[in-house]
Amino acid sequence: MAKNIVIIGSQWGDEGKGKIVDLLTHHVDAVVRFQGGHNAGHTLVTKANQKIVLHLIPSGILHEHVLCMIGNGVVLSPVAFMKEAEMLKQQGIMLYNRLKISPMSPLILPHHIALDHAREKTQGRQIGTTGCGIGPAYEDKIARRALRVSDLLNEENFTTNLAEIIDYHNFILEKYYQTQPVDYKQTLDQAFSFKEKFKSLIADIPALLTQLRLKGKNVLFEGAQGTFLDIDHGTYPFVTSSNTTAGAAATGSGIGPRNLDHIIGITKAYTTRVGNGPFPTELNDDIGEHLAKVGYEFGSTTNRPRRCGWLDLVALKRSIIINSISSLCVTKLDVLDGIEKLYICTAYRYNNQYYEVPPDTEILAHCDPVYIELPGWSESTVGLTDYTQLPKNAHNYLNKIEELTETPIGIISTGPEREQTIILNNPFE
Ligand code: GDP
Ligand code: IMO
Ligand code: MG
Repeated sequence: MAKNIVIIGSQWGDEGKGKIVDLLTHHVDAVVRFQGGHNAGHTLVTKANQKIVLHLIPSGILHEHVLCMIGNGVVLSPVAFMKEAEMLKQQGIMLYNRLKISPMSPLILPHHIALDHAREKTQGRQIGTTGCGIGPAYEDKIARRALRVSDLLNEENFTTNLAEIIDYHNFILEKYYQTQPVDYKQTLDQAFSFKEKFKSLIADIPALLTQLRLKGKNVLFEGAQGTFLDIDHGTYPFVTSSNTTAGAAATGSGIGPRNLDHIIGITKAYTTRVGNGPFPTELNDDIGEHLAKVGYEFGSTTNRPRRCGWLDLVALKRSIIINSISSLCVTKLDVLDGIEKLYICTAYRYNNQYYEVPPDTEILAHCDPVYIELPGWSESTVGLTDYTQLPKNAHNYLNKIEELTETPIGIISTGPEREQTIILNNPFE
């Protein structure tokens, strides 16, 4: 039986989705990105010192013969796309014959990036975006003025519509943000320089997904960002501009929701967040620094240091509901090695009131975490592949997560490399 499996981040992103997609691609014929854009940074470490960071191209691309698709839910920067494709080509990865793009993906163009930067510089409530133009591109989509991949094929219409859109955005850039406008002719020429390449990559993604299903082939849907960066369910306004939750796998690719078989929630054994916004379990102490150092917590897209803190089960339990997570994959367990006492947040407290579900962002920003304490372990778990080899207290930590979330853990990651993984339950088998 064909299986369609969705991988999503259950926290604030960077949970290790890329590693797990790359690992599970072994079992599939296709991998699909369905939301976000090149704001994502998915790190794949195939062997020691062989590291590739992908932003836009699905993390299945390293596996020969696997079809990689970019769905309609993704906002696509042609410049970022070509840069990444060329980087992969230089690594000897042949990709153009097995990469397909939805004609409906909205394009990220230079004015989106200029607007993203201008806003972050001026507006009061800074989000701390990646500066990739994601928000402004999704705004154009919702406002029904976006130029999409398919528009590149109609030169006449593209030329006219781009003039109108740039005129509109330049007005805001110049008059409101008092910054440099973007150059229409340059934008047009650059967009057309990608036309032939994109023409050869456009495909009807829902039709391809249906064919794969009817042929009994497995497909992975690769989420970007994390649940609490979701435009609706996240810590608004400190979120990204797409739905990062599992439902977006259907709307952002065109697969019918009933055809999604299993949702894997990738969950870091602790929590990190890049950019601004509330983060109740954040640690501004030695332990926080230790997690950042051992976990090498620097943004894969912007290289900004990631904020670190303890595992937050109030958030994770909400994530399990919103995404209908079937199983958890706990990553970076090894980063907890050697920490004497571990803490898991089971509730928030504010003004003598306890919250077991996430409150509104304003309240969340003032919440203190309520923790349970668990003993840590001194042994190294780095690279372990067998569950029985894990220290007793690591079992205890994982069991506690399963018990409190009432959700099984199917995969445990013990290092950045593909092989450094414990598979308890392979969803494809
Ligand atoms: P993604 O955005 O969810 O794909 O995650 P990122 O790639 O941005 O960040 C995860 C980081 O942790 C990357 O540097 C990975 O190589 C690394 N990583 C993934 N799993 C593990 C693990 O189990 N242990 C350790 N130490 N590092 C891991
Ligand atoms: P992956 O897929 C972590 C964060 C930014 C910022 C907010 C909005 O690697 O997990 P945007 O540029 O999207 O408008 O920024 O979202 N953000 C991420 N944080 N991982 C990501 O992706 C992220 N993509 C965006 O830091 O706070
Ligand atoms: Mg990342």
